[in-house]
Amino acid sequence: MPYLDHQDIRFFKENGYLIKRDVLKAELMARARQRMWDNLPPPLVRDKPETWVGPFADPAGDRSSHRRNFVWNYREPGDEDWMVRLLATDPIIWRMVEELLGVGMIEQPERIRGIYCVLPEGDAPVRPMTCHVDAHPFHLGVVGYIDDVGPKGGGFTVWPESHKTFYYDFTSQYANEQSESYNVHRAEFDKKGGYVDCYGQAGDIVFWHHRIGHSVGHNRSNRIRQAVLYDFKKKDLMVDEPPCENMWRDWPGVMALEKGKA
Ligand SMILES: [Fe+2]
Repeated sequence: MPYLDHQDIRFFKENGYLIKRDVLKAELMARARQRMWDNLPPPLVRDKPETWVGPFADPAGDRSSHRRNFVWNYREPGDEDWMVRLLATDPIIWRMVEELLGVGMIEQPERIRGIYCVLPEGDAPVRPMTCHVDAHPFHLGVVGYIDDVGPKGGGFTVWPESHKTFYYDFTSQYANEQSESYNVHRAEFDKKGGYVDCYGQAGDIVFWHHRIGHSVGHNRSNRIRQAVLYDFKKKDLMVDEPPCENMWRDWPGVMALEKGKA
């Protein structure tokens, strides 16, 4: 019995992202939340929500606990076994990823990115949303919420279908070498809007194609957005190969759909 049905895979292919509900394990999410609250950076204080409002005054911290503007990237616990099990090697998530990228083809994770938090913006002026593409080599991103994230609560935000354009805006399939068209298209998507705020509840996950335009959502709620992130890679990833004519060549689950076999 597959974990992703035809509709899921077709949605992912067309839109470049896919939300699956109630996937993460409650016990591991609770542990991650506890870890995050136990290590709040200054000036945040757990029992004083008024201190959670960003932005951070200045960029601070090292890579393991980096703070900038409204974002706190708490990477320090990302290499711990239970954190990897929470997201990357969760058996259901792993099966879903294999259904897209191929059984036995996924590189074994050593760590996840960590816990990425977004502070509330309080009454700061509303800012325009702008997209970007992550350019390090990977195939499939996943964002998992370890706490509830309401609409406009800092959810992972995507520009649906932009993966079909941005995929060809790099001179190589998986490397960070943008062609000139990248900035032109980025400006067009920003102007067009139409982005989707992928909010959800604790346990929900968002898969996203490695070349989809996306952004961290602006958090207009009064709670801290708490998510874990990982980027799945296939074992045979070739960084320098140019984009393929068929952008789904490396995705057997999607290719099978195209052939009517799925
Ligand atoms: Fe990004």
